[in-house]
Amino acid sequence: MRKKAKFQVGVRGAMLGTMGFSAVLTIYGLKAKFSFGSSVYEGKERLEGKTVIVTGANSGIGKSTATELLRRGGRLIMACRDVDKCEEARREIMEITSQNNVVCRKLDLASLDSVRQFADNINKTEDRVDILVNNAGVMGIKERIETEDGFEMHAAVNYFGPFLLTHLLLDKLKASAPSRIINVMSPTYKANHINFSDINFKDSYNASKAYGRSKAALASFNLKMAELLDNTGVTTYAPMPGVVDTNLKRHQITSPWKQFVSKFTSWLQKTPESGSQTVLFCALNPLISDQSGFPYRECQREDNEGSVNRQLPRERLYLTSLVWTGLKDADEAKREFDEMQEMAKS
Ligand SMILES: *[C@@H]1O[C@H](CO)[C@@H](O)[C@H](O)[C@H]1NC(C)=O
Ligand SMILES: *[C@@H]1O[C@H](CO)[C@@H](O)[C@H](O)[C@H]1NC(C)=O
Ligand SMILES: *[C@@H]1O[C@H](CO)[C@@H](O)[C@H](O)[C@H]1NC(C)=O
Repeated sequence: MRKKAKFQVGVRGAMLGTMGFSAVLTIYGLKAKFSFGSSVYEGKERLEGKTVIVTGANSGIGKSTATELLRRGGRLIMACRDVDKCEEARREIMEITSQNNVVCRKLDLASLDSVRQFADNINKTEDRVDILVNNAGVMGIKERIETEDGFEMHAAVNYFGPFLLTHLLLDKLKASAPSRIINVMSPTYKANHINFSDINFKDSYNASKAYGRSKAALASFNLKMAELLDNTGVTTYAPMPGVVDTNLKRHQITSPWKQFVSKFTSWLQKTPESGSQTVLFCALNPLISDQSGFPYRECQREDNEGSVNRQLPRERLYLTSLVWTGLKDADEAKREFDEMQEMAKS
């Protein structure tokens, strides 16, 4: 009697075990599928004597990228909105890498003033800037938020902030050439185009469009800067890390159910380490030093897609952004654009 019961338990256990095993296999299959690949950047380049800036370096892909870059022996500047969180991450990164040439600097990309102060400080205190990683970003903010400069929040943090920051650091980047600008991208840029009559979503706000368009603007900027910086030794790259589990999604997780789903799906997604591989590839690989202006996925170059390739919208966005970030006079920009349009017609 007892023996039989035990036997049954054994069979049931084995069956459950098998089911469990196939479930685990299925989930691993899903994990592989959803993470879409997991390239590893294996280059061994060192960064002694070089200075790297990573925005949003206290968590996610930014932290993981920063850690790997510091490990290579350079100087690291962690540019973060929250200085306490930055300090905490800095201590961790120093411990992991056994390197200590790393500082935190306050940077709030939602504020042009903060960007100017940050850049001014870098310009005064740093001898060089070899790699600028525009990594920090926001996503899925449910209600429209307007920044102090009048920008919609996704547009501000993901695009106008990095736009101004890059321009203010250009002198340093040029003087340190060969140097690189890395604009962390998302494939959503392809399906989105800028609506010039409503760049800041005053009329009809949609979080997913606001995110997509901010990335489309950044992709356009990435290519425009490549054109502008031709022959200067400063090159631009737009790595797309893939679906990575980072707190970028913090704005979207609002209910306990969503929290549960998020916990589960986050396990399916890439780790920040895996997500940072294409960013590292773009920052370090010597073989792509003449391939400026392209997006990269899984450590491979892709072609620019969508509205990024259309020259007039690209110029228009560039000039508009120069004006809106205070880098150019509005009348002058308008004259330039009108001339460009005339030339395009003839
Ligand atoms: C950086 O500092 C130099 C002088 O050291 C100055 O000429 C230059 O205008 C500054 N650049 C910016 C963007 O502030
Ligand atoms: C662009 O914005 C304008 C003004 O809000 C709006 O009327 C128009 O429908 C938008 N176009 C697209 C394609 O979203
Ligand atoms: C926002 O835009 C996305 C993508 O264009 C669309 O799928 C979604 O339905 C829109 N959401 C709302 C609330 O209109």
